Amino acid sequence: MADDTTRDTNPTYDHEERLLDHEYDGIQEYDNPMPRWWVWTFWGTIVFSVAYALNLGGIGTGRGWLAAYEQDMVAFHQAHPQGGPSVDGARLAALVRDPEALALGKATYAANCAACHAADGGGMIGPNLTDGHWLHGGQLPEILRTINDGVLAKGMPGWSKMLRPEQVTAVTAYVASLRGTTPAKPKAPEGTPVAAAAPPIATASQ
Ligand code: HEC
Repeated sequence: MADDTTRDTNPTYDHEERLLDHEYDGIQEYDNPMPRWWVWTFWGTIVFSVAYALNLGGIGTGRGWLAAYEQDMVAFHQAHPQGGPSVDGARLAALVRDPEALALGKATYAANCAACHAADGGGMIGPNLTDGHWLHGGQLPEILRTINDGVLAKGMPGWSKMLRPEQVTAVTAYVASLRGTTPAKPKAPEGTPVAAAAPPIATASQ
């Protein structure tokens, strides 16, 4: 070992002094203490582990690591809702009358939906969104769910991963606002007729 060589060439190194008493078949060993920094690190990890373990549940009235973790996770889930926005029908109905939401919805629709549902909602690959017929429910929360989750087997993508939650709700409101408008080339109605969830407003589809 490199250390032994140093000791062999070090004239002040007392080999006899370092030699331990025991001997096995003529083999003896030195008492080579671990370097001080190593020993301090070793004890440091033990002290740290005790403090860490105690603080898992919190020391005194303080917040422990576990509680801090739980709280962080709750905050994260509030900031990043899973499974899409949970917005009730009343709030969605309000968005259908909110010009700002409709503007965002219209832009979102033009960029992401027009390719399959036509720019005016008349339908192409996807169904006509302007009639009162729905395959997956025509109530606002149902439309929101369809847009958010998609109908993957039928070629309708789920938009929860691709759009921000407020875009999903806005485009839901925009789709609802298309109802009763007259597209250039309307696709034949599909699904079952549903009474309007929210009355369309005149400016909605402009
Ligand atoms: C790749 C093509 C495609 C794109 C892009 C697309 N859709 Fe669809 N969409 C479809 C198809 C196909 C269906 C019909 C699913 C079925 O038959 O069950 C559908 C169904 C729907 C329905 C349900 C209609 C009903 O009758 O229940 C809504 C609402 C809808 N799409 C909205 C949107 C919105 C909003 C966007 C943009 C964010 C969008 N779609 C983008 C293909 C698409």
